[in-house]
Amino acid sequence: MQIGHLDFDDRPLFLAPMEDVSDPPFRILCKRYGADMMYTEFVSSAGLLREQEHEHQKLEIFDEERPIGIQVWGGGIDEVRNATPMVDAAGPDVIDINFGCPVHKIVQKDGGAGVLRNLDKMKRITAAVMEEATRPVTVKTRLGWDDDSIHIVDVAKMFEDMGVAALTVHARTREQKYKGDARWEWLRKIKQEGVRDMPFIGNGDALDPEAIEAMFEETGVDGVMMGRGALGNPWIFNRAKKYMETGELPPPPDWEERVQVVAEHLSLKCEWLGERNGVLEMRKNYSSYFKGFRNASTLRHKLMQPETKNGVLEVLLNFKPDAPDIQLPSASLPEQTANPGAVDTKKPDVPDTLPSPGGDGAEADGGETAPADPPPSIA
Ligand SMILES: Cc1cc2nc3c(=O)[nH]c(=O)nc-3n(C[C@H](O)[C@H](O)[C@H](O)COP(=O)(O)O)c2cc1C
Repeated sequence: MQIGHLDFDDRPLFLAPMEDVSDPPFRILCKRYGADMMYTEFVSSAGLLREQEHEHQKLEIFDEERPIGIQVWGGGIDEVRNATPMVDAAGPDVIDINFGCPVHKIVQKDGGAGVLRNLDKMKRITAAVMEEATRPVTVKTRLGWDDDSIHIVDVAKMFEDMGVAALTVHARTREQKYKGDARWEWLRKIKQEGVRDMPFIGNGDALDPEAIEAMFEETGVDGVMMGRGALGNPWIFNRAKKYMETGELPPPPDWEERVQVVAEHLSLKCEWLGERNGVLEMRKNYSSYFKGFRNASTLRHKLMQPETKNGVLEVLLNFKPDAPDIQLPSASLPEQTANPGAVDTKKPDVPDTLPSPGGDGAEADGGETAPADPPPSIA
C-alpha cells in the first residue's frame, strides 16, 4: 500500500489522531512499538490563524515519528485554506482533514462530522486544502450524519476522483458518536464498491490484536487505525503484528515493562512540557497503563500526589516491593523537525485535577469526546 510517496508493508497499523493523547511523547512510544504511521491530534484552523500558542504547539513533529500526518479541522472553506500553509510548513508527510469529530461545538460550525450534512462543502474544503498543500492530503471521516444519510460509498468515490491520498473511515455515524458497535459491514462495502486504488483505512473498535486481524479479514481494508486500543497500551502494534504473523498472541507486557514504559512516557512528557506540566499531564495516563492489575487503584492514587518527576518515579519504582531492579530510561526527545509557528513550546498551566482523555477537558478545546475505555458492549 502506498500513500503518496510513502510505501507500507502489508497490513499497516496506524495510530489514530486523539486529542490530548496523540502528542509527541505518546507518539514516540507508539512508533517504537510498531506503529507504521501516526497522526497528531486535530489542530484548529481558526486557532492557527489567531496564532493561538496551544494550536501551534500541536504542529510540533519530530523526525523519529515519521511518517506522520498533521490533522486539521475547520468549518470555513477560507479558514481552512488559509491555515493550510501553516500546517504544510511544519513539514508533515501528509495533511489529514478531520471530517469525523462529533462534538456539538465543532459540528455546529460545520467542522468535523458537521460537513457530513453538506457534502458539497466537504468537497470544497478538501479541494482548498489540496490546492494549498505541497504534500499528500488524506481524509478521516465517519459513515454519515445519521442512519438516513449514509452516503459514504459515494463520498469515498468522490475523494478518490479528487486525488485524496488515503481515506480513513470510523465506522459509526455522527449520531452514534461512540455508541453501539462500529459497523464493519460498511467498511467492507466501501472497500468493495467505493474505492478503486485509493488506500482505505478502517477504524472503530479494533481494540486488541484479535479484533485488528478480524477487521482486515472481514472487511478487506488496506490498513487499520487504532485509537482507544492504544491508550496505555502502545505495545498493541507489535503484539498485533506478531499475532497476524504467527497466529499466536504474545503475552501482554508484564509489570516491569509497564513501569519502564510509564517512566519513559513521564520523562518524555517532562522534557516536552517542562517538569511541572509534564507531571500533571501524565496523571491522566496511569489508569489505562495499570488497568486490571491488582492494587492498581492504590498505585494510581499514590501517583497523583507527587509534583516532581523524581517523586513520581520513586512511587512507581517502589510500589511493588518484590519488583526486580529496572534501569531508568534516559529518554530524550529527538531534534524537532519544524515548528515555525510556536513561540514557546510549554503548554499553559494545567489544572491540578486533570480530566481523563476524552472527558470534559477534551471537549473544552473542541476535541472529539469519546469514552477512553471501550464501552462494555465492545470490550
Ligand atoms: C480521547 C480521544 C480523542 C480523540 N480525538 C480525535 C481527534 O483529534 N481527531 C480525530 O479524527 N479523531 C479523534 N478521536 C477519534 C479516534 O481517532 C477514533 O476515530 C475513534 O476513537 C474510534 O476508534 P477506536 O475504536 O479504535 O477508538 C478521538 C478519540 C478519543 C478516544
